[in-house]
Amino acid sequence: MARAKVSIKRIGILTGGGDAPGLNAVIRAAVKVAVRNYGLSVIGFEDGFAGLVENRSRRLTLKDVVGILPRGGTILGTTNRENPFHYPVRENGEIVYKDLSQQAIDNLNSLGVQALIIIGGDGSLKIAKEIWERYNFPVIGVPKTIDNDIAATDQTFGFDTAVATATEAIDKLHTTAEAHHRVMVLEVMGRYTGWIALHAGVAGGADVILIPEIPFTIDKVCEKILERQREGKKFSIVVVAEGAKPVGGEVVVKKIVKESFESIRLGGIGNVVGEQIERITGIETRVTVLGHLQRGGSPTPFDRLLATRFGAAAVNFLMEGRFGEMVSLRTPDITSVPLAEAVGTMRRVPLGCDLIRAARQMGISFGD
Ligand code: F6P
Repeated sequence: MARAKVSIKRIGILTGGGDAPGLNAVIRAAVKVAVRNYGLSVIGFEDGFAGLVENRSRRLTLKDVVGILPRGGTILGTTNRENPFHYPVRENGEIVYKDLSQQAIDNLNSLGVQALIIIGGDGSLKIAKEIWERYNFPVIGVPKTIDNDIAATDQTFGFDTAVATATEAIDKLHTTAEAHHRVMVLEVMGRYTGWIALHAGVAGGADVILIPEIPFTIDKVCEKILERQREGKKFSIVVVAEGAKPVGGEVVVKKIVKESFESIRLGGIGNVVGEQIERITGIETRVTVLGHLQRGGSPTPFDRLLATRFGAAAVNFLMEGRFGEMVSLRTPDITSVPLAEAVGTMRRVPLGCDLIRAARQMGISFGD
């Protein structure tokens, strides 16, 4: 663990990558703890790393964080394109990519910012790691993503809210599915992991849950639906993670987005599965893609608490000289781990976990 004694008077904070409910709760806690307990001044960079490179920032005072705890989004703005080490610049009418990381460090120095809190997912945390390793600039990461796929923490904030939204959607689909005797397919987010699908699927009482960690065969999915029909159950609910794929098949890609933290945009597996179910079973089937509803809205109490604990700990850890680290939930504690341990490894749903076991025991099919 890197520990250094520095006398910090001013810190910076930014939110990078896709938003997640709870970002404002982190900002609020960090500002409150920094100002009230250490007398620090706090500079917020706008639009993630773009603000760092382009020197767009503003002072964050206690007044600026009033009322933001329950608000989704981020008061600072965010983007998942701009990376200081590979930054898009327009030259002669064309976009070229340059390493502008020194410019970002110069901006931090000229503002008198001595340490930086970077709230983000894997892409942003990798940049945090590089800033620390290349420039020895004090940083601390805060793990954020609705996908819950970051290693070295029990949970990321934003996940609980996404699960709550997806669960509510399943509840609503249940009533209309039952009324029309239909199969309802719900596609949820989660990138290459099935955390949202598994948790919301079980919480919402889904009949089939398809996750990337367990490749499925459509015949098994249909077998379950037909079995329910034989039992006199007139509807079925299928929850599909956007990264789910059939045995021997590939993920369904909606779009390739060049030069983004995440160049492959997943999406479309719900429609593929829905069409196959209708064709094979002959039961009328409808597909809902929940999309960015999962990222919006007010954070749940759990996410507000986790985000608040992360924000407070980020400031406390910086003041203790824990640089190049990421705050982490190791239930029941908040601790920190080196960024090197946290980035580059996707945390996937463990196949032997009790939730999958319980789900199977209760008759939920994973299509395998
Ligand atoms: O990582 C969060 C996430 O919402 C994923 O679940 C999803 O695949 C992706 O971001 C969507 O990203 P965008 O904001 O670019 O549409």
